[in-house]
Amino acid sequence: MQIDFFHTHISKNAQKYVFDVLNSTLLSEGHVVQEFENQLEKKLSLNHVVTVNSGTTALHLSLLLAGIKEGDEVIIPSQTFVATGLSVLMVKATPVFADIDYTTGNISTSDIRAKVTHKTKAIIPVHWAGYPCDMDEILNIASEFDLKIIEDAAHALGAYYKNKPIGSISDFTCFSFQAIKHITTGDGGAITCENPQSYNEARKLRWFGIDRANSPMSNLGEREYDLDVIGYKYHMNNFSAALGNANLEDLDHIINARTNIANTYTNAFSTFSGIELLDYKPENKCAWWLYTFKVEQRKKFIQKLKSKGIPSSVVHVGIHKNKVFKNKQILENQNLFDQNQISIPLHSALSEEMVEHIIKSIKEGW
Ligand SMILES: Cc1ncc(COP(=O)(O)O)c(C=O)c1O
Repeated sequence: MQIDFFHTHISKNAQKYVFDVLNSTLLSEGHVVQEFENQLEKKLSLNHVVTVNSGTTALHLSLLLAGIKEGDEVIIPSQTFVATGLSVLMVKATPVFADIDYTTGNISTSDIRAKVTHKTKAIIPVHWAGYPCDMDEILNIASEFDLKIIEDAAHALGAYYKNKPIGSISDFTCFSFQAIKHITTGDGGAITCENPQSYNEARKLRWFGIDRANSPMSNLGEREYDLDVIGYKYHMNNFSAALGNANLEDLDHIINARTNIANTYTNAFSTFSGIELLDYKPENKCAWWLYTFKVEQRKKFIQKLKSKGIPSSVVHVGIHKNKVFKNKQILENQNLFDQNQISIPLHSALSEEMVEHIIKSIKEGW
């Protein structure tokens, strides 16, 4: 039995949609990208979606749009991928690490409060594994100290905080469509902007800072523009969007399959000693990108599963110790989490038999 840790979902319509784009020879950003944005808005009940070429560029553009600059501090968790912290460095601001809530792996709101200074300008909550952060409290803190919120929802496409879809709550939300995410465009990302001005600015900034909609072609054959900002080459292209359109048709199936498997795992392990499940409240809907828990004797656990043909992974350890971040904070919960967190396979290509094999192998002990 071959069990993969991650699975890249390619919808049955993907070849046709991508082939249509290739046939059209209109490969760069165009109407297929617009269609993907419309479909994302419709399917996920979101507004002002701007696609870009990665989750990282989504974070970078959001920080620029939020006005974050040199000398500013941005509070982030360590339990994430380096992209979250690097995006803060890209705008020359300082990432300040808040500890995590040990029960979820998400940023601790009490530690956000403890880390706010007069230099703090934004918070980037990361919805680890697809489970929403405590957004009510994060919104309270942001309003109290006049901070922008940029959600890193790379793991959380289709998640709900209480009854609100992730992407509809704060100033900016960033998604990733990298190969192993819920749906992929090869590489790609999207930003949802709370206000229309940021939406228009995002569309400009992703294409060199040129407002394509309002810069007509001159008689000389080039668009007329007079750039007043540094823009970027961050847009999505039509064939990526075609893949996205096809995969998006399967999003419900993908999330349902992941949720069912996650529920099966939870039922199997909730009273099983040696494993401590994360504490997910039923009022929130997890997008289940990962099934993460805490385990005793992790090395032995990994070895045991490996011997049964089952991959397991920490996926990301806390990023705060990377030299590039020059962090001096000690993060007690993060350090503990780094010692015992683990994820097991969770995706729509796992058969019932595979899930049973994983549960049985774990229950045998390690
Ligand atoms: C939490 C988190 N943020 C950001 C990113 C960056 O996304 P991308 O690879 O699309 O640039 C990732 C990617 O894996 C991620 O896991």
